[in-house]
Amino acid sequence: MRVVIQENYEKMCKWAADYIAAKINAHKEDRPFVLGLPTGSSPIGVYKELVRKNQAGELSFKNVVTFNMDEYLGLPREHDQSYWYFMHDNLFDHLTDMKPENINILNGMTDDPEAECAAYEAKIASYGGIDLFMGGIGVDGHLAFNEPFTSLSSRTGVRALTTDTRIVNSRFFGNDPEKVPAYALSVGIGTVTDSKEVLVLINGHNKARALAATVEGGVSQKWTCSALQLHPAAIIACDEAACGELTVDAYKYFLDIEKEERL
Ligand code: GLP
Repeated sequence: MRVVIQENYEKMCKWAADYIAAKINAHKEDRPFVLGLPTGSSPIGVYKELVRKNQAGELSFKNVVTFNMDEYLGLPREHDQSYWYFMHDNLFDHLTDMKPENINILNGMTDDPEAECAAYEAKIASYGGIDLFMGGIGVDGHLAFNEPFTSLSSRTGVRALTTDTRIVNSRFFGNDPEKVPAYALSVGIGTVTDSKEVLVLINGHNKARALAATVEGGVSQKWTCSALQLHPAAIIACDEAACGELTVDAYKYFLDIEKEERL
């Protein structure tokens, strides 16, 4: 696992966007580049930079297919807190050459969630899997909506949200946890770790415990993000603020090993 520590949130986002752009630009195969994407506040700066690069002609999404991580169950697309709305508002609507038919987001209004999730897995497989899955994590270490004690081999399915997560996410729902949907559709931990590469953003003091668990704890379904330790090509991009719970030797190790500029 690589842990790329950046001074602050802006630099973390710039690093992540540069990494993603370099991967897309280096992709020379006929088949599309398949990119997994998250929502939440963490990726917003990355999306801004990807949009800037795209509008400046430095990065094309013409040959990119995207799959989002998750969606609230029961929220229509038009709801301003749906992840469909978030992705269009923060990324897709601003890209010059993203093809709408290449955007995949789980349908939170489906009347057959199991079929919806099975079809999503099948569609990912039809492209030959995901090349790069970007993610964020919750304060309890959830990756997508895979809350503590979700199987580390889980696939796309319905997830119940914990009270903690509904409280954290209530900031987007008038500070009322009851207004946060109780269920979501989410890719599984296995879906994410099947990707060729995984890049997870972890920033801010409130994620310090989760970062330490991801990097230094044992692999455990209690911290579903810890499954990344078993992935052959996982990268954590983080800011200094999130490093507060790392041991000094781990912190120094990652600074040392990443001191040369590289992508
Ligand atoms: C939600 C999403 C996750 C996201 C997490 C963290 O619960 N389902 O995919 O990683 O929030 O959000 P934030 O980046 O706002 O801290």
